[in-house]
Amino acid sequence: MIIKVDSLQKSFNQIPVLKNVSFDMDEGQVLAVIGPSGGGKSTLLRCMNFLEAPDAGSILFKDRQIDVKNAKKEDIAWLRSHSAMVFQQFNLFRYKTALENVMEGLMMVQKKSRSEAKTIAMDFLQQVGLADHQDYYPRQLSGGQKQRVGIARALALHPDVILLDEPTSALDPEMIGEVLDVIRKARELGHTMIIVSHEMGFVSEIADKVIFLDSGVIVEAGTPDEIFNHPKMERTQQFLARVKVSTAR
Ligand SMILES: Nc1ncnc2c1ncn2[C@@H]1O[C@H](COP(=O)(O)OP(=O)(O)OP(=O)(O)O)[C@@H](O)[C@H]1O
Ligand SMILES: [Mg+2]
Repeated sequence: MIIKVDSLQKSFNQIPVLKNVSFDMDEGQVLAVIGPSGGGKSTLLRCMNFLEAPDAGSILFKDRQIDVKNAKKEDIAWLRSHSAMVFQQFNLFRYKTALENVMEGLMMVQKKSRSEAKTIAMDFLQQVGLADHQDYYPRQLSGGQKQRVGIARALALHPDVILLDEPTSALDPEMIGEVLDVIRKARELGHTMIIVSHEMGFVSEIADKVIFLDSGVIVEAGTPDEIFNHPKMERTQQFLARVKVSTAR
């Protein structure tokens, strides 16, 4: 087991957004989080690396057990340095090139020299098919290209887990495929990933486990076959029926 989240709780202004969320995953697994808007998916991902501080519960990550109420600075720094996040809106530095965007974390977080960071960054840009775009600024890149830089930036850090929050939902349909290909490749390389996605076809293909999160509660969890083909709970069935209608349109 590489991650075990136990009874995680988070409220905003006394309104609970995560209510006793628990799950675990093995190294190399892909966990998908699905569910309606406002259900707490992004909050769950952000609590995993303390971009939001959870209120209660515990996070076991690799060999470190963190009681979130008593999390120390070192615990939080440790979580952050062993994970990487991919954002819906890419979150690239506007005034840095593709190459510099990938180099940044390597130099700032991992304290690599400029030349070492450059070698590593080039390797990862190449892996996502963007070696020839190394000197482009974000505004000169398509959405799909920007997101591939975002994923190269995450992969370059050699994180133990990659957290992806709707990595394709800001993209035009014709660019979704190229980003999904890069995520598929990351899975083949053995990366452990937690991915929030509305691409149900992709989720059922790539995920080992699926969590259906609604109103801060894991209503149902299981394999893609269990969740998509044999959902037990009425709320899951209703959600999937709605999603199918909207993707058929
Ligand atoms: N910083 C914040 N302050 C106050 N409320 C917040 C904050 N962040 C999230 N929330 C609330 O928490 C709830 C869950 O939000 P969250 O962004 O986690 O949902 P989500 O499942 O990711 O939704 P979506 O599919 O639309 O991205 C929402 O009701 C939201 O308004
Ligand atoms: Mg969200």
